[in-house]
Order: sequence, then C-alpha cells, then structure tokens
Amino acid sequence: MHGAQLFEHLAAYPADARLFEGAMAAGTSFLGLVPGLPDLPATGTVVDVGGSDGRLLDLVLTAAPGLRGVLFDRPHVTAAAAEVPAAHGERAEVVAGDFFHDPVPAGGDLYLLSRIMHDWDDERCSAILRNVRAAMAEGATPAVVERPIRDDPGTLLPLAFDVHMMVNTVQGGERTTDEHRRLPAADGFALEDVRELPLDVAVLIARAVV
Ligand SMILES: C[S@@+](CC[C@H](N)C(=O)[O-])C[C@H]1O[C@@H](n2cnc3c(N)ncnc32)[C@H](O)[C@@H]1O
Repeated sequence: MHGAQLFEHLAAYPADARLFEGAMAAGTSFLGLVPGLPDLPATGTVVDVGGSDGRLLDLVLTAAPGLRGVLFDRPHVTAAAAEVPAAHGERAEVVAGDFFHDPVPAGGDLYLLSRIMHDWDDERCSAILRNVRAAMAEGATPAVVERPIRDDPGTLLPLAFDVHMMVNTVQGGERTTDEHRRLPAADGFALEDVRELPLDVAVLIARAVV
C-alpha cells in the first residue's frame, strides 16, 4: 500500500519512524526482565543489535553498572535515540549502520537481538547472524528475544504475532523453538537455553561453535 518495505518506509518518513519506535517501546514491559536472563557479565560490552530507541539497553545498563553498552541501528533511528547515551554518559555508545551492509560493532561480550529475527526470512536472518558471529569477542553470548510458537495449541499470542509479522514485513514471521534452533546452527551458533518471559516471550541463549 505504501510502495515500500516497512523499514524503508520508516527511513523516509520520520514521523512514522518515531511512532514505530514509540510503539516498540510501549510493548516492552516484559523487557524489564530481560537483563536477569542471559546471566549478564559483570564487566564488558553489550551490543544491542537493532536496538531502536535504546529502551532495552537502558534496562541492561541500569541492571549491570559494570557493563558498557553499544546501541546499533539504522541512522534514522540512532539520530533520534538521544536518551540512552544521555542517561549513561560514557558507558553508552551509539553506532549507526545497516546490519546487511555494515559490520556490527565488534568485540561485544553479549549481543542482544530483540525482536529482530521475526522481521526477516531465514536467508536474511542468516546474514544478520553471520555478521554478529564475525563481530563477537571469543566466548561472547548472543541472546535472541522472540515469541516462539509453542507446541501447546493454547499458546495463541505467538500465532497472532505470526500473522501480524506476515502482514507487516516481507517474509517475516514467528518461528517455532525448533526453527529457532535450526536457524543459527548454519551460522556458527548452537542454541543452548530457552528462558521464558511473560506474554509468551522467550530469551534464546546461544553459544558460538567452530
Ligand atoms: C521490531 S524492531 C525491534 C526493536 C527493539 N530491538 C525492541 O525489541 O524493542 C526492529 C528494529 O530493527 C531495526 N532494523 C531494521 N533493519 C535494520 C538494518 N538493516 N540494520 C540495522 N537495524 C535495522 C529497526 O530500525 C528496528 O529498530
């Protein structure tokens, strides 16, 4: 209807982009629990890949005062994301880039990908994951926040979001836990643990394999 894919449309229409970022931030009550889930390192760097306005990074940096944080997102988003660096001073850095064309910030100890995978098909997810794999410090942890489709047919929210993503993205969608397990396997990661959050969200913790 708008003649462009979602993120291209948002790049061209700042008011819509701010509306989208606000909607993302408004739907993040569960993210308050994320910092407790990937066993945050006491020191080091967390990189929030596609971190939008920095709401999740803010929660992580507040929960772990020894960590530095890097917010990575497209330039039209980072240009408007002033609150996180302001709140955390030198501990927070903002890097503008495109995870399909630019290297993800290197040397992080924890890479967060919150609600990123569901925007893309497997091929594009692999490109993002390979980019993260190339950037990671040895022993770093990737943590994916998504709403996996469960075997339990009573768990309806992931299915509703699957349709939502189908309508709003190009070949995006929610994945089953097994699909999440298979996805990074080809890109140098193994899924290690699935930690549940409210509203059927989960943090999928992976580790790099050779
Ligand atoms: C669904 S939002 C999730 C935002 C945030 N991580 C959260 O959970 O609230 C997807 C994010 O990916 C970012 N994004 C989309 N395409 C990107 C690209 N090519 N490179 C970097 N970031 C991108 C968008 O700007 C947006 O902030």
